[in-house]
Amino acid sequence: MIIAVDGPTASGKGTIARALAKHFGLPHLDTGLLYRAVGVMAVRLGGDPDNPDEALAGCAFDDALLNDDHLRSEMAGGLASRASRHPAVRQALLERQRAFASQPGGAVLDGRDIGTVIAPDAAAKLFVTASVAARAARRYHEMLSRGEQVTLEEIAADLAARDARDSGRAVAPLKPADDALLLDTSDLTIGQAVQRAIELVNGRT
Ligand code: C5P
Repeated sequence: MIIAVDGPTASGKGTIARALAKHFGLPHLDTGLLYRAVGVMAVRLGGDPDNPDEALAGCAFDDALLNDDHLRSEMAGGLASRASRHPAVRQALLERQRAFASQPGGAVLDGRDIGTVIAPDAAAKLFVTASVAARAARRYHEMLSRGEQVTLEEIAADLAARDARDSGRAVAPLKPADDALLLDTSDLTIGQAVQRAIELVNGRT
């Protein structure tokens, strides 16, 4: 059973995907981390995140890099969003994601194009959304708790820019698959959103 969870930044898709993986006993891949690794590595190696060397995406990222907290920063997210526009980068990461998805027993993957490109045959596809205001408020509290200095306005502007880049790109843009189930988390607690996601998946499997 493959469960595809797509949606914009700070929609709650990562939390929901992790909870679904735990509930159904499946391995989970946060595919955003792969794009973040490419963007961060491009900068570390003195390359251009807007035009990263595709060989970077083809190389194996070590666990130390994928577990590095820096990868979860807003800066790494921005670099990922720039690097991920490139068809060659997406292509280089495609097989790795498909291999993860096709494990016996299934898997949960979250990202932007899991239901549309990586696993179009997934048993259940969720598209998790929330208003920009709700997402900005969540991200703001998250960053404050990490001691980062930001304003709500800066975050809302960054989210809107990232949405526009992810939805407007030519290859694998952020959009719900035709058969995706929509889950708007704007007015839901984490617990309610997870519960609803489990119900939606159960309805499809
Ligand atoms: O999900 P996360 O915020 O970690 O993703 C960072 C960026 O990586 C996104 O803004 C998007 O540009 C890119 N991404 C993507 N396709 C995916 C996952 C992430 O293009 N499947």
